[in-house]
Parts: sequence; structure tokens; C-alpha cells
Amino acid sequence: MKDGEQVAFTLSGHSFCAEIKKAAKGTSIIGTRIHCFAEAGSTSDLARDFGRRGASEGTTVIASTQDEGRGRLGRRWISPEGGIWFSTVLRPNIGLKDASKLTLTFAVAVAEIIRRELKLKAEIRWPNDILVKGRKVGGVLGEATAGSDGRVSFVVVGVGLNANVDLTFFPTSIRGTITSFREELKRDVKIADFLVPLFQALEKYYLLFLDGGFEPVLSEWRKLAGFLGSRVKATCVAEKLVGRAVDVDVDGALLIKLEDGTEKKIFTGDLLELKPE
Ligand code: BTN
Repeated sequence: MKDGEQVAFTLSGHSFCAEIKKAAKGTSIIGTRIHCFAEAGSTSDLARDFGRRGASEGTTVIASTQDEGRGRLGRRWISPEGGIWFSTVLRPNIGLKDASKLTLTFAVAVAEIIRRELKLKAEIRWPNDILVKGRKVGGVLGEATAGSDGRVSFVVVGVGLNANVDLTFFPTSIRGTITSFREELKRDVKIADFLVPLFQALEKYYLLFLDGGFEPVLSEWRKLAGFLGSRVKATCVAEKLVGRAVDVDVDGALLIKLEDGTEKKIFTGDLLELKPE
């Protein structure tokens, strides 16, 4: 969208939302319609409701806080004030089996913009964690709603970033594993200003995915995946695997070379980078 073009907003009247209004610049899909809330349960739930009611592609729900934020594998996502919590409705003409690739696509854009705008060496940990100095600063959650014939009706991609959050808000048990922009930069980041290039990058990679398929996105993803080549422990549904992270394939699955030399492909799970032996 060019400056000055019409953008539709739902504003809660909160000062956070007045700022956010400035964020939709220079995109023609992502954020062209923004629903902003001071408080939400989960922006992904709200975006899914908008999607079900026919919301246009790019419709984005953003909230200053969430009290029912969700992470991967049904985990709770703590979302206090100061963070960036938003979810976007996408309507790609793709099969359901390809929907998870959008999560990786968004992760590339997020990591790239943290690097470019904040000069922090953001990395991706499979499948969708955003790390700075080995600590989690954010994550991406993709959830597809099925259409007919194995196609998607729409996908909601949620992005959570601990931008200016106060880390003491988090339980001490996880505090050592997370970070924030504020913690790394020793200053606050202006969220509305950060969202402008972020929305533009999300759109750039989304279009790359639609036009060129997953391969070009995957090659960018690989460059940002600091863990590739490292010893890792993968916790999957039924087992724990220790080995070397070899690659991520065209389906977004992680290939691990186990200590006995065999290769294993995993589609879902958690990854922990281990110290070299
Ligand atoms: C992860 O588990 O790493 C993914 C976390 C995604 C969190 C975001 S915050 C905005 C959106 N709303 C949610 O409830 N979750 C996502």
C-alpha cells in the first residue's frame, strides 16, 4: 500500500493502537486491514474468527497484551505489555500439507528484519523459534483452516516477539532461555516503526513463496538457521533423538544424522542445541 491510501482499522482507543495505525505503509497485502486491541485472548483466535467471516487476505489482528496467547504444541505463550503480538489471515491457493511452509516463510522475514533494523544477530531454530544469542526472542505459529479437496481455506500466521517486555514477568524457570529486544539493546524499540519494515518483509517473502515456491525461501531460511551442522537433541512425540542437524528439506522436515550414522526425518518436535563433544 502506498502512503495515503486507505487502510481500514478497528482501534480500541488505546494509545498503543493509535501508534499502530502508522505501521501499515508500503504493503499491498499484509496489514492493509488492521484490527488493533489493547487486550485480547489470542490474536490468532481472533484472526481465525475474522477469516471464517470472510476477512480479506492480509487482515491483521494485533494486541498490546494477550491473556490466552498460544505457542506451538498447545503451549501457553506469555504476552505482556511491551511485546509484539499479531496474527495475519492469508488465503494462499495451496494444499493443506504445504501450509506449515508459511510458518517458516514468516520466520525468515522476522529474523531478517531483526538483523537489518536492530543489528541483532537473529537466528532461526527449527521449526520457527527466533533466537538472539541462543535465547528465544520470539516465535511464529501457523494454523491452517481446511477448505475442500485437501486445500486450505485460509491460514492464520501469528508472530510473537518479546520486544520491550519486562523479562521479570516470565517464570524464573524459563528466564535463562529467553530474551527481548530491550534486554539486548538496553533500550526500547518503537513498535510501530519496527512493524513497517516487518510487514514489508513478510509480504516480500510471502510473495516469493507464492511465485517461486518454497525452495527460494528455504535457501534464505538455511542461511539464518544457526543450528545446522550442530549437535542437537530433538524431542519428538514418541522419542528423543541426539545427533547432528543436517538440513531442512522441501517439506520443512528436519534431517538429523544420528550417532549411529543413520538419518532421521522429523516433522514436529523441539530442538535443543548441544555443546560440541
Ligand atoms: C512458538 O511457540 O514459538 C510460537 C509462538 C507464537 C505466539 C504468537 S503471539 C501472536 C499470536 N497469537 C497467539 O496466541 N500466538 C501467536
